[in-house]
Amino acid sequence: MPPVIIQGGMGAGVSNWVLARAVSRRGHLGVVSGTAMDAILLRTLADGDPGGHYRRALEAFPIPKIAEDILDRFFKAGGRADGEPYPNLPLHRRVMKPWQDHLIVLANFAEVFLAKEGHDGDVGINLLTKIQIPNLPSLYGAMLAGVTYVLMGAGIPKEIPGALDLMALHEPATVRLEMQSGTGADDEVLTFDPMKMWGDAIPIDLTRPAFLPIVASNSLATMLARKSTGRIDGFIIEGPTAGGHNAPPRGGGEINERGEPVYGDRDVVDLAKIAEIGLPFWLAGGVGSPEGLQVARAAGAAGIQVGTLFAFTEESGVLTDLKHDVVSQVRNGGVDVLTDGRASPTGFPFKAVELAGTISQPGVYESRTRVCDLGYLRSVYRREDGRLDYRCASEPVGTFVKKGGDIAETVGRKCLCNALLANIGLGQVREDGARELPLLTSGDELKNLGRFLGDRDTYSADDVLDFLLS
Ligand SMILES: Cc1cc2nc3c(=O)[nH]c(=O)nc-3n(C[C@H](O)[C@H](O)[C@H](O)COP(=O)(O)O)c2cc1C
Repeated sequence: MPPVIIQGGMGAGVSNWVLARAVSRRGHLGVVSGTAMDAILLRTLADGDPGGHYRRALEAFPIPKIAEDILDRFFKAGGRADGEPYPNLPLHRRVMKPWQDHLIVLANFAEVFLAKEGHDGDVGINLLTKIQIPNLPSLYGAMLAGVTYVLMGAGIPKEIPGALDLMALHEPATVRLEMQSGTGADDEVLTFDPMKMWGDAIPIDLTRPAFLPIVASNSLATMLARKSTGRIDGFIIEGPTAGGHNAPPRGGGEINERGEPVYGDRDVVDLAKIAEIGLPFWLAGGVGSPEGLQVARAAGAAGIQVGTLFAFTEESGVLTDLKHDVVSQVRNGGVDVLTDGRASPTGFPFKAVELAGTISQPGVYESRTRVCDLGYLRSVYRREDGRLDYRCASEPVGTFVKKGGDIAETVGRKCLCNALLANIGLGQVREDGARELPLLTSGDELKNLGRFLGDRDTYSADDVLDFLLS
C-alpha cells in the first residue's frame, strides 16, 4: 500500500532520523535528508556524538573496517573545546579519495539505519539531483541500511532509476556529470563501484527501493516516465509554495516589488494529465492540512507530501531556540517568508523565513567574509587547459571571477551550505571567533501555522499526523 502521508525530505539535517522514525513508526513515510550527510556525521562525531547514536549505527555497518577507519579519523571523545572550529573536509570532486566516498556511504547508511530502528515501516531518503557528486555513494549507503523509497528533485533525475537497479546488485553505476556552460560535447561521468568497498567480504543482499521523482511540471513527469533508465514508481508534484528550493517560473523573469519570482498559469500542473501516466502521485506545497489531503485525494492523488508543518516539530533537526523564535513570531502574527530569487548559488528561487538572528535580515550577511569550505552547491566547468574545476557564486568574488564566473552572478548570493548547517546546531566557528549564522527555509504555509498551533508552544510529529488525518 502506498503511504498516504509523506513527510518531505528537508535538508540539511532538518528531516533527520528522529523525525523520519517518528513518522514511519506510525505507518506513514518518514524521509531523511541525505544532503550534506558526510559533514553532518563528521561534525557530530567531532562533538563527541552525544547519545552515541551514530556510533551505534556505525557498529552495524556491514564492512566493519570502513566504519572503524572513519571513527578513528573523526570521533572526538568529549567533543571539541569551546570555540574550536570543526575539521574541514576536502571539497567534493569528480574523483575522490576512497575514504571520502566511504564517509558519504556511512553517513547515509547511519541516518537510514537509525530512522528504521524499532519498527517495520518504510523509510525514504531525499537527495537533490543538482548536488551531483555525492549522490551515488549516498544512495548506496542508504540501500545498505534498507531504505525503501528514494525521492529526488532539484533537477532531472533520469539516470537514477537505472543506477539503483545496478547498485542493488552491487554493480558499478554511472551517471552523466552535468557541466556549467558546457559545450554539449562534454561527456564526463560520475561512477561509483560498490565492490571496491567490499574487498574480499561477501556483500549482503539488497532490495531496490521505489523511486519517486519530485517534479513541478507535466512535461517533466511525462519525460521521466518515458525516458528514465529504469523503473519509476510514482511522482511528487510540488508547487511553488513549498519550502526549500523551488523550480523557477516557466513564464520568464518577472519579479514582484519584493524581488520574488512571479508564478503564473503555466506553472500550474494539470493533474488529470499526471493521472493519465498511470502511476501513483502525491501533491506537495501548501496542502499540509486535512482539507489539503481531501483535495489531493479528490484529484486522484495517493496522498500528500508535507514539509513546513514537520520542520518545526520537537523531533526535527532545527535548533530548539530557532523553532521557539519561529513559533513566537507566528503567534505575534508577524512571520514572513520571502521567495528569494538571488540567495541560492544554484540560481533556483529559495524560500527564507524573515527571522532576527539569521542572515535573512538586511545587512547581516554583508559583514560575513566570503568563504567556500563546504562546496556542495559548486558547479563543474571546464578550464581553458581542459581540466575540470569547480566554482560557486557565493565564494569570494575574486576567486569566482578568476575561474571565469560572471561577477553579476555573485550579487545577492549567500552561502547556504554554512547557513543550513548552522540551522541544526552544526555551524562553523571561524578562527576569529565569528560563528556562521542560520538561514531558515519554510513553505509559504508557515503563515497558517497559528491555526494548527492553538495554544501550544511546541508540538510533535504525532500531533502533525493526527491533525492531517483529522
Ligand atoms: C525546511 C525545509 C527544507 C526543505 N528541504 C528540502 C530538500 O532538501 N529537498 C527537497 O526535495 N525538498 C525540500 N523541502 C520541500 C519539502 O520536502 C516538501 O516538499 C514541501 O515542504 C511541501 O510543502 P509544504 O512546506 O507547504 O508542506 C524542504 C522544505 C522545508 C520546509
